Amino acid sequence: MALKMAICCFSNTLESKEEVVHPKQSLPSPQRASHVLGIGTKHGSEISIDELSNSIPGSNLYVFTHDELRLVTNNFSLANFLGEGGFGAVYKGFIHDGLRPGLEAQAVAVKVLDLEGTQGHKEWLAEVIYLGQLRHPNLVKLIGYSCENDQRLLVYEYMSRGNLEKLLFRGHGAPLPWLARIKIALEAAKGLAFLHDLNNPVIFRDFKAANILLDADYTAKLSDFGFARDGPEEDKTHVSTKNIVGTKGYAAPEYIMTGHLTIMSDVYSFGVVLLELLTGRRSVDKTRPKREQNLVDWTRPLLKDPKKIERLMDPRLDGQYSVEGSKIAAMLAYQCLSKHAKSRPKMSAVIKVLEPILDLKDMPLAPFVYVVPADQSNRSSPKGRSLSTGNGGNKDDDKGGSKVEDEEKQIEKQKRSLRTLGVHSDSAPQSLC
Ligand SMILES: Nc1ncnc2c1ncn2[C@@H]1O[C@H](COP(=O)(O)OP(=O)(O)O)[C@@H](O)[C@H]1O
Ligand SMILES: [Mg+2]
Repeated sequence: MALKMAICCFSNTLESKEEVVHPKQSLPSPQRASHVLGIGTKHGSEISIDELSNSIPGSNLYVFTHDELRLVTNNFSLANFLGEGGFGAVYKGFIHDGLRPGLEAQAVAVKVLDLEGTQGHKEWLAEVIYLGQLRHPNLVKLIGYSCENDQRLLVYEYMSRGNLEKLLFRGHGAPLPWLARIKIALEAAKGLAFLHDLNNPVIFRDFKAANILLDADYTAKLSDFGFARDGPEEDKTHVSTKNIVGTKGYAAPEYIMTGHLTIMSDVYSFGVVLLELLTGRRSVDKTRPKREQNLVDWTRPLLKDPKKIERLMDPRLDGQYSVEGSKIAAMLAYQCLSKHAKSRPKMSAVIKVLEPILDLKDMPLAPFVYVVPADQSNRSSPKGRSLSTGNGGNKDDDKGGSKVEDEEKQIEKQKRSLRTLGVHSDSAPQSLC
């Protein structure tokens, strides 16, 4: 309801004369949100912060001033810089107790519109409309926003592990383990399924590794609703879009060719991310040999042949994955990447396929390496076994027993991390980033 009023406010401000009818449900009707977003123009709103905040009584979004967010982010300091996309830079900040009644002290991420960039009020508004009212464990939580003159800012819960793209392709630590990859795919699928299964479905439109964020427990959440759109009205098969937006390598072929958008466009993009998780390769990688540069084109013929799956699996997994699970996941990716949108599975079906993979027991044991330190060779110690983390084993032999203890602690820590991941495995733990 609150958002309905917000939409009304935006509509009026944008000189729409449309009346707000009383909706039966708590989400905006597809027509209305689409309409509001359709008429938004870059920096086109003259709305004042007072008008905006007064128009959202009872909203669970907090309205901040630009100065408050400047303080929160230590003057948008470079040291607080978290990342950047098409909308603008994102900074870490900290909200102290008492800034607003009911708002608890917490770390936040503050996204600042780049006034020189290609995005603007429309994308900001899409985030406020969608994330302001949609709450789900696998969608990043929008805490509030700021809207002064041309400035547009968004304040989110802080996701301490950053985005999946960084973790998968730019991480300097140990590679993301198999079960963590499946768990991330499953949770991202749950986020998408939630959007698609709403009474008025929402199409995310820019599903990609960089828009999947991970919190301290590696819980995956979708972020960046700037390009989200209402799904087609009941009597329509698709949404027609004038501007084709999204990201090369992830966007569905029929959407790129025709501008026709459906929830199945998101399913295709999900297939691309699943493929990235399996292969450890980017959807487009110009550094690869020509025929391998486009991940989907290269892997499509391999995916449906179970005997060939091994060839495309991420070598950094070092064989530490369920062979059965890899075949199931590869076939699922193949179906999601079908050239025919209607042949792709719904996200609710994707969840049902992914869930049981977490319980598959055919995970090879991680290799155990006997470590017999040179100066300790006379001591018989069953504890002289260390789990190979894929980082070259024990290079620090002269520390003797304490090293062994360290490694035991390390193994325990890894086990705990896997438990934290909610991953149940009888097999040896794998190292986490
Ligand atoms: N809530 C958050 N917590 C931590 N990092 C974030 C958060 N939101 C965004 N980021 C970082 O900023 C990057 C860009 O954010 P995103 O919302 O995708 O912006 P854009 O709309 O510009 O693409 C993300 O890939 C991520 O690295
Ligand atoms: Mg983004």
